[in-house]
Amino acid sequence: MKRDFIAVTDFSKDEIYETFRIAKQLKADVKAGKEHHYFANQTMAMVFAKPSLRTRVSFETGMAQFGGHALYLGPNDISIGSRESVKDIARVISRYNNWIMARLFKHEHMLEMAKYASSPVINGLTDYNHPCQIMADMLTIHEHRGTVEGQKVVFIGDGNNVCNSFLNFASIVPYHFVLATPEGYDPDPTTLERARAAGLSKIEVIHDPVEAAKDADVLYTDVWTSMGQEAEKLKRLNDFQGFQINDELLSHAKSDALVMHCLPAHYGEEITEEVLDGPHSVVFDEAENRMHAQKAIMVMLGNGSGANIQV
Ligand code: CP
Ligand code: NVA
Repeated sequence: MKRDFIAVTDFSKDEIYETFRIAKQLKADVKAGKEHHYFANQTMAMVFAKPSLRTRVSFETGMAQFGGHALYLGPNDISIGSRESVKDIARVISRYNNWIMARLFKHEHMLEMAKYASSPVINGLTDYNHPCQIMADMLTIHEHRGTVEGQKVVFIGDGNNVCNSFLNFASIVPYHFVLATPEGYDPDPTTLERARAAGLSKIEVIHDPVEAAKDADVLYTDVWTSMGQEAEKLKRLNDFQGFQINDELLSHAKSDALVMHCLPAHYGEEITEEVLDGPHSVVFDEAENRMHAQKAIMVMLGNGSGANIQV
């Protein structure tokens, strides 16, 4: 049996905390120069239908640290769904590679990939969600605050894939999630409904960034125009005016608030350079934690697929 990681909801609350524990241990070990070849001689196919810096480099480096090898398949190499069907790609890659990590446009393609692949599939972002990002983000909050529970995390901007993953997390671990978004940019309604129905977290969707930022423990943002939405860029630039993390907005948050951004950042749009480079920012801890969180996810999936790795 293989186990996939397609959404944060694939893990229970205990498994999320176990992933954090493992990630922290692996992080300390990397810094101490200790290597663990848990996946020696294994290979990972990294299928990218969209560009990437962090996801590609963190998975490729993480796989090397585990004693394995990752290969990059870019947007022009495979042409998902046009040159070849998703199910055939999944079945072929599974014959060569122990792992599949994919960044795709359509979430249905990710689900189809997981269905037909015999190797574990890890979701490296779709138009719908970005679960590895949220695991790294929540790990970062956990490191800085000692807990994620009860933290007021305020997302300023688009109800996009990253936002949907925050909502999925809220359906498993209790915290306070507030989205401040312009009218018309709400998150996926089913995901929002499911997160609310879980009854664990306090969830608010409002349209006033200043109101949202009040007493925030974390101010978080992401680009206004996600990959694949380039045709809407001008309209979005206009619609998102005022939904920027800057010094003024930060002044409404708690005095020790953390500022986070999944990156890449567009300075002067969703965040100012001063704030991203300022004392509240943990943006580069967050980027680093992508690798440690993903390595921990691999250990969880490896064990869920029959390995016996003790971290
Ligand atoms: N945050 C993130 O996923 O970055 P990349 O798009 O560079 O992988
Ligand atoms: N919402 C952004 C996240 C990038 C990591 C996008 O999908 O482009």
